[in-house]
Amino acid sequence: MSIRICLAGATGWAGSVLARAIAKSDDITLVSAVSRTQAGHNLEDVLAEPLINCPVYATAQEALIHPCDVFFDFTKPEVAKSNVLAALQKGAHVVIGTSGLTDADYSEIANVAEQRKKGVLAVGNFALTVVLLEKFSEIAARYIPHWEIIDYATAGKIDAPSGTARELANRLSKIRESQLDVALDSINGPKESRGVRLDGSQIHSVRLPGYVISLDAIFGMPDQKLILRHESGSGAEPYVDGALLAIRKVGSLVGLKRGLDSVMDF
Ligand SMILES: NC(=O)c1ccc[n+]([C@@H]2O[C@H](COP(=O)([O-])OP(=O)(O)OC[C@H]3O[C@@H](n4cnc5c(N)ncnc54)[C@H](OP(=O)(O)O)[C@@H]3O)[C@@H](O)[C@H]2O)c1
Repeated sequence: MSIRICLAGATGWAGSVLARAIAKSDDITLVSAVSRTQAGHNLEDVLAEPLINCPVYATAQEALIHPCDVFFDFTKPEVAKSNVLAALQKGAHVVIGTSGLTDADYSEIANVAEQRKKGVLAVGNFALTVVLLEKFSEIAARYIPHWEIIDYATAGKIDAPSGTARELANRLSKIRESQLDVALDSINGPKESRGVRLDGSQIHSVRLPGYVISLDAIFGMPDQKLILRHESGSGAEPYVDGALLAIRKVGSLVGLKRGLDSVMDF
């Protein structure tokens, strides 16, 4: 049986690549899509993809008139929570790819998911190499007390540190805080030279032309070090495999799960 999906943000940078991948899959079918500017069109014409046959609506509420098994959100944080709640009320499982929802948003979503006995899988980064870097870093932090994170991006990236660096620091904080041998207040020189301390990790953000997106998690021990490095290009392809995996797995969940690793075997 094919998984029926409603894709909000199907015309965007990430959503359009996912829509094309779904069209080529054997077990997932797009039944409706959301985009304000393309409402009333067929996604087949909007994306020039003949394998798709799917109406586009301006709102999730309208798109959800088509019964679906999974609602996928790749839109904007200001609209994502109401989309997700509408989908849960309609009896769909939900995958959240949109970033920027608050902890308060997530606790409200978790309550409704529990009440409706549906699964919600929220994934800050679907790239499998990032998921693995996070997992390997969690293992390393159990054994190695000193680490720092460096995130690299193009000169024009506004967010600093990157969402991926913040998420990694947050995950590592659940293991422990990285050890500083010289307290930041005791540095002989500008404190900023040691980066920012977030959730118990030192993070350094490099913004230069020539970089796209990469991140180093460096774990140091006397006379040895471990460097875990993630790199991705400028396309949205790295997110596709993880997003498809989330769609296939979310139907087995009840309540809210955060992170793709929560549905992966390790
Ligand atoms: N989890 C991950 O691995 C991952 C990967 C990539 C991106 N993201 C996140 O996914 C989100 C989308 O990123 P993107 O780069 O694809 O953005 P984008 O190119 O701007 O696309 C946004 C999509 O959402 C639709 N949209 C925006 N506001 C809407 C609204 N109020 N009502 C209905 N539809 C709306 C847009 O269509 P209209 O403008 O026509 O409405 C468009 O289809 C962001 O939060 C981004 O950070 C997450």
